[in-house]
Amino acid sequence: MDWAELSAILYPWVKSAHIIFVIFWIAGLFLLPRYYIYHQEAVPGSDEEQRWIERERKLRNIIITPSMILVWVFGILLAYIIGAWSQGWFHLKLLLVLGLSAYHGYMVGYGKSLAAGARPQSGKALRIMNEVPGVVTVIVVILVVVKPF
Ligand code: HEM
Repeated sequence: MDWAELSAILYPWVKSAHIIFVIFWIAGLFLLPRYYIYHQEAVPGSDEEQRWIERERKLRNIIITPSMILVWVFGILLAYIIGAWSQGWFHLKLLLVLGLSAYHGYMVGYGKSLAAGARPQSGKALRIMNEVPGVVTVIVVILVVVKPF
């Protein structure tokens, strides 16, 4: 079997896996700053705060970070299968998903500051930041489906 045949068989499976982990990743990214908003209303050092720290840690370590890694693995594999590297829509998508991965990294770091007793942002700022994954999702889905350029 040559590469063309193999990639034709793999393509729908890799794409399914990609979309499944995109859903897990984005769902988790929608939830994490929400948890932080509730968390930072709790008194530092309280039992309630301890429960938020644990919930956040599980959401990050079990759902969002492994999902982000798998989205990248399957996404890069897809890029090889369809030869996306030279296509304009893909360049913009890459820029946006790099930005979303940076947002992910910031939110992981933010949870660690919260757990250490700091409250770096207001609840309002977190609510605004919480819109980032939604906006990126709208643009990325249009880019991959419509491929306008
Ligand atoms: C993190 C790095 C990512 C890479 C390298 C990547 C790359 C790719 C590639 C190359 C395809 C194949 C497009 C095609 O078959 O025509 C694809 C499909 C897709 N991607 Fe991503 N992607 C990434 C992240 C995301 C994210 C964050 C989202 C959503 C928010 C997303 C949503 C989708 C969807 C919905 C499809 C299926 C489109 C179709 O039906 O053809 N991807 N991705």
